[in-house]
Amino acid sequence: MQNIRNKAKELMKGACRVCPVCDGRACAGEVPGMGGLGTGAAFKNNVSALAEIGLNMRLIHGAKEPCTKTAWLGLELELPIVAAPIGGMFNFKEAISEDQYILAVLEGCRDAGSIGCGGDGVPPVITDAVFSGIPKVGGWGIPFIKPWESAELDEKLERSFATGCAVVGMDLDAAGLVTLRKMGRPVGPKTPAELRKIVDKAHGAGCKFIAKGIMTERDAILAVEAGVDCLVVSNHGGRVMEYAPGGARVLFGIVRAVGGAVPILADGGVRNGADAFKLLALGADVVGIGRPVSLAAIGGGRAGVAMLFNNLRNELIQTMILTGCPDVASINETALFGCC
Ligand SMILES: Cc1cc2nc3c(=O)[nH]c(=O)nc-3n(C[C@H](O)[C@H](O)[C@H](O)COP(=O)(O)O)c2cc1C
Repeated sequence: MQNIRNKAKELMKGACRVCPVCDGRACAGEVPGMGGLGTGAAFKNNVSALAEIGLNMRLIHGAKEPCTKTAWLGLELELPIVAAPIGGMFNFKEAISEDQYILAVLEGCRDAGSIGCGGDGVPPVITDAVFSGIPKVGGWGIPFIKPWESAELDEKLERSFATGCAVVGMDLDAAGLVTLRKMGRPVGPKTPAELRKIVDKAHGAGCKFIAKGIMTERDAILAVEAGVDCLVVSNHGGRVMEYAPGGARVLFGIVRAVGGAVPILADGGVRNGADAFKLLALGADVVGIGRPVSLAAIGGGRAGVAMLFNNLRNELIQTMILTGCPDVASINETALFGCC
């Protein structure tokens, strides 16, 4: 992985410093780019919220060969970690084209038994790559579109459904991107009724629907009431709102509020399998990983992404052995130091 990261650093020519620890400090304010918005506080909060959590080492048990398989929204995965949606490779000094990027993510994830998501934005090359890439992997990908307010919403929903995917998502947290509005491409928050309409369209097309960017118990309950099939607890990698808390900080409360009504995906600051374990222990069903996947795809293509996911799986297994968890379902808050 170090060779792959070095290669990514060379190709990105300073657009990402590929720091030893990707924590948002060096790249604060670099949006677009890899950084977090403004002071970078929300990005840093993701990493620090995870770092503050300790794990209980438990060694007298029979969990010798933990199983990381999981079923999520009808998808069978070898590990409960997926590639978060990321788009906009033109911001990275042409290190990789959008088409090459999404294919590397989708194919690399599939090779490792995971699944990749696709992002949305301006210019159209981002979604064009996602909508043409997912059919190339037999529909094994999840397109995420922005909360458009114009006809772009229906058009992109239709194009998402046409990829053959089983699940579509929307990053509701992109609602405040005023730059898009200034470009004549307005996005905005959705009322419960508007969200319900979008969910119904997805269901009508035979797709499950994920709402991304849920950071409060109130939003979680409203989204569940609107019929969503899964929530993503995420502050968008700290790229949309200053001072948003880290995902790990709000996750447990949201999990309790949702009470198992729908599965929960969580992302933000995950850098290794033990980080993923922490989010699972806080109640996430599946974990998303963003920036490290981009570096793996840019520096190592499909094989780099597969290697990253295989490493994450091995690190997760190691953590499961050392905390006494034989399978994903048995990972819970009792593994968190000071929790129980
Ligand atoms: C360069 C970049 C582009 C992103 N583009 C999107 C996007 O198009 N849609 C989306 O839902 N999230 C997008 N995200 C947010 C990620 O899906 C994810 O929530 C975040 O990166 C997770 O944090 P991590 O990078 O610390 O793992 C983007 C993140 C980055 C860094």
